[in-house]
Amino acid sequence: MKTLVICFSQTGNTRRVAERIRDGIFEHTGQCDLVNMKDVDTQLLNGYDVVGLGCPVFYFKEPFHVLHFIEGLPPLNTQPWFVFCSHGAVMGQALFSMAASLEKKGALVIGSHHTYADITVPFYPKHTLTSGHPDDTDLMAAVDFGRSIAGCAQSVAKGDTRCITRPSEGLEAWARDMAAMCTPASLAERMPALSINLETCIQCGECEDACPVGGIDMGCDPPRIQEPCIYCFHCASICPTCSIEAEWGPLVASAPEKYQRYTHSLNRAEERGEFRWLVDPETVDCSQPLYKERKREIKS
Ligand SMILES: Cc1cc2nc3c(=O)[nH]c(=O)nc-3n(C[C@H](O)[C@H](O)[C@H](O)COP(=O)(O)O)c2cc1C
Repeated sequence: MKTLVICFSQTGNTRRVAERIRDGIFEHTGQCDLVNMKDVDTQLLNGYDVVGLGCPVFYFKEPFHVLHFIEGLPPLNTQPWFVFCSHGAVMGQALFSMAASLEKKGALVIGSHHTYADITVPFYPKHTLTSGHPDDTDLMAAVDFGRSIAGCAQSVAKGDTRCITRPSEGLEAWARDMAAMCTPASLAERMPALSINLETCIQCGECEDACPVGGIDMGCDPPRIQEPCIYCFHCASICPTCSIEAEWGPLVASAPEKYQRYTHSLNRAEERGEFRWLVDPETVDCSQPLYKERKREIKS
């Protein structure tokens, strides 16, 4: 059985999970390729018996460019696929939505896996509710998932489909509503516009290279930014001189209320045995967002 695992990962969480899933599949079948989504040759997908696709959750679902990647795939003719994601406090619709889009392309979705992970955005603190994840226990669960999905794919190939499990819709209605509300158009209106401070920018090009949708061009005059944009704000999080700026104030101000809701979701996930607290939520200080901390570090 030949397996390909495709992954988009920005801060490395999904990549770590993908590597462990690959290990589990390799243990079971002796083969498994792992490739970054941007390097996939979609014409070669039909050379695989099973394909996995993993990404972070952005705005309660898969990132917009991951959805575009799925929409651009050739017909999948009942090829077995599985989906996985890493996320902060609320996974929302991600797995359900990816599975539905793959099924539209003709894939047979045979299973899914999700992992709690840290979140890195300029307007939230560095130390967050899900900090410490994915830990060894989460990564071992990913290896187990790899083993079991490989076994399931082998059974399906023999005509036994009893192992197939389809991701269900997110449990929380408010997160479903948020996923539906967070369209590119609504985020363009609600999220802060980015600008480049040309006095401090050192033209290192890290933001251009890291933007998953090619939305930055420092070679233009004035430089092009957020055209297009998936509102991940990774460019602002990684700029070594904090030269990608925005009016983060309103998002910072709304963080405590959101974190109350997220704490509630995580407590419920803990009750269901899905989540383990690795931090004391009382120690999360929303008044110290990452962008301020990084600015302080750069000054000192
Ligand atoms: C712009 C943005 C939006 C996010 N939205 C959500 C979300 O709706 N729910 C959630 O649980 N985590 C959310 N996260 C957290 C990421 O899913 C999480 O950090 C993920 O592990 C990142 O994966 P990576 O390290 O592979 O890039 C968001 C992160 C970013 C940057």
